[in-house]
Amino acid sequence: MAGAAERERWSSRAGFTLAAIGSAVGLGNMWRFSYLAAQNGGAAFVIFYVGLTIAVGIPVLLAELAIGRGAQQSPIRALVHFGGGAWRPLGVVFVAAGFLILSYYSVIAGWTVRYAWISLTGGFGENVADRFTDISEGWDALAFHVLFMLATIAIVGSGVKAGIERASVVMMPALFAIVVGLAIWAATLDGAGPGYAKYLNADFSKLGNWDVVKDAAGQAFFSLSLGMGAMLTYASYLGRDENLPSESVVIAGADVAIAFIAGLVVFPLIFALGLSDAVSASTVGALFITLPQAFAHMGAVGQVVGALFFVTLIVGALTSAMSLLEVVVASTMDGLGWSRHRAAWVTGAAITALGAFSAFDIRVLDVADQFANNILLLGGGFALCLFVGWVMPDPIAEVRAGTDGVTWFPIWRGLLRYVVPLFLGFVLIRSVPATIEAVWGLLSGS
Ligand code: TRP
Repeated sequence: MAGAAERERWSSRAGFTLAAIGSAVGLGNMWRFSYLAAQNGGAAFVIFYVGLTIAVGIPVLLAELAIGRGAQQSPIRALVHFGGGAWRPLGVVFVAAGFLILSYYSVIAGWTVRYAWISLTGGFGENVADRFTDISEGWDALAFHVLFMLATIAIVGSGVKAGIERASVVMMPALFAIVVGLAIWAATLDGAGPGYAKYLNADFSKLGNWDVVKDAAGQAFFSLSLGMGAMLTYASYLGRDENLPSESVVIAGADVAIAFIAGLVVFPLIFALGLSDAVSASTVGALFITLPQAFAHMGAVGQVVGALFFVTLIVGALTSAMSLLEVVVASTMDGLGWSRHRAAWVTGAAITALGAFSAFDIRVLDVADQFANNILLLGGGFALCLFVGWVMPDPIAEVRAGTDGVTWFPIWRGLLRYVVPLFLGFVLIRSVPATIEAVWGLLSGS
């Protein structure tokens, strides 16, 4: 096997960190986090979400990093390496999840490309809702989805160092600077006061509900790119001198911070126009309708700020899409012995084709998203906990390498063995029936 000796590597520690943060920070932070917070009691949701990220997200993230760096292989092989052939199907599910998620994620990313362009060149006109319908479904949606996939494929096809790392090192600091700048600008808006009030006042009455727990757990996994081997794959290009626990805390911290700051942009904007009800009521399209309305009412300033906002969405989406494609590409390279270039273009083309279903029917996109979040990612996270908690020979030795002996590792393994799987098991039991119903409804209805 030639693979091991010539395996690609990150060129620097910051390269890995920024690429992993790039994977985590994406549409989930700026698009879904805000509307979940708006729907579910503002700060109460934020607090609950941060707690989940610490208690569930970080342990699973560290588990993925440990498997990937330990095995130095793509997900399917890494699982087999530590667990034997019985774990191969889980790896196959991971690759399939990457395939499915990227197929619709790229369609949404295509909307953001379109939106950035419209913002720059003259605005959305009066009826944004109709405009959204035009943009989000049909040939337009397909065209921009294809465009976005081409960019993703080109970057991933160029390699870990020359493609993914280089793009992340340039794009992530820029994204961070723009989001912070937008948050400062948003503080000057008329809606800032009421927006902050809605966002930062905690209404705990919404939290008693299992749906909120399910949404928060799904969001925590999605936002941290967990449950399908993306972080595992990125960690497989790391050396043993890297400090995995501190990486996992930095990655999760940056992810939550950017989601939180994005909320500081979104809430004042939607309250500047009194559009808050529209956001808390709807799902996929919420921000794509209300935010342009807000920008449209601000004249030239709105044009510039709107374009900046959508450019950050594009950047976030692109660095996330790279990690989704990398799971599929690395597995194809390892499994079929293909070159990176070939793997990227062939699998990327197949994913693009699958995404056409979402581009032509937003209900497909919505259901694929529910299925991925509620079943694939949470189920994948559940399996990963059991794998590292019970099956992997010595995960503690793996995460200890590169640190100077931290004492909380047994707590980590205890979380992975008992607490997190129990929690995820409950959430899964609650969410699987409704999700299957949604999938079934779509299949039988169309
Ligand atoms: N985390 C990204 C976001 O918040 C999306 C993403 C990238 C992802 N890679 C992933 C989600 C792997 C699940 C699994 O937008």
